[in-house]
Amino acid sequence: MSDDRKLDVATAVDDEGKRDFIFIATGAAAAAGAVSLGWPLVAQMGKAADTLAAGSIEIDVSKVAEGQQLKMLWRGKPVFVRHRTPAEIKIAEDTLISDCPDPEEDSARLIAKPDGTVDPRYLVMIGVCTHFGCIPVGESGDFNGWYCPCHGSHYDTSGRIRKGPAPKNMAIPEYKYVSDTVIKVG
Ligand code: FES
Repeated sequence: MSDDRKLDVATAVDDEGKRDFIFIATGAAAAAGAVSLGWPLVAQMGKAADTLAAGSIEIDVSKVAEGQQLKMLWRGKPVFVRHRTPAEIKIAEDTLISDCPDPEEDSARLIAKPDGTVDPRYLVMIGVCTHFGCIPVGESGDFNGWYCPCHGSHYDTSGRIRKGPAPKNMAIPEYKYVSDTVIKVG
């Protein structure tokens, strides 16, 4: 049996005071649909989640509202799907990569759709600090991106390291668009 599944969601949307996490349930359809139901559907992560996390997952990113972030577990790691605001996109695009310790254009951190266009609203990352592996907190830090409280690393709205001990930008997982709004991670 294939490990490929769609998320019957799960979720956790970053929201101040309603800290993080996660989600998952196995099953069909409704990829990321629970996001639209609001906070919080928190399922238990047991064997099903472990199994799910081992394979590929599909997420309908259109269900993630502007300014929200979906978090999920994939292959044992948290993955963030952030629907960035226009202001966040502008800041990310306008940043000089010479100001980035790990220089990378915002556009290089996005994957094109099947028609070749890129939707800068959706940023998909491995949500792990590149210092010692803590999980950064969204909409935080000096660059209004993510902040890792473990040792004080600040990431911008593209997930690039800007300040602190982390050496690298947060990683982009293996993923692709399988339709205009659905991505497949893994
Ligand atoms: S693990 Fe994030 S700053 Fe050290």
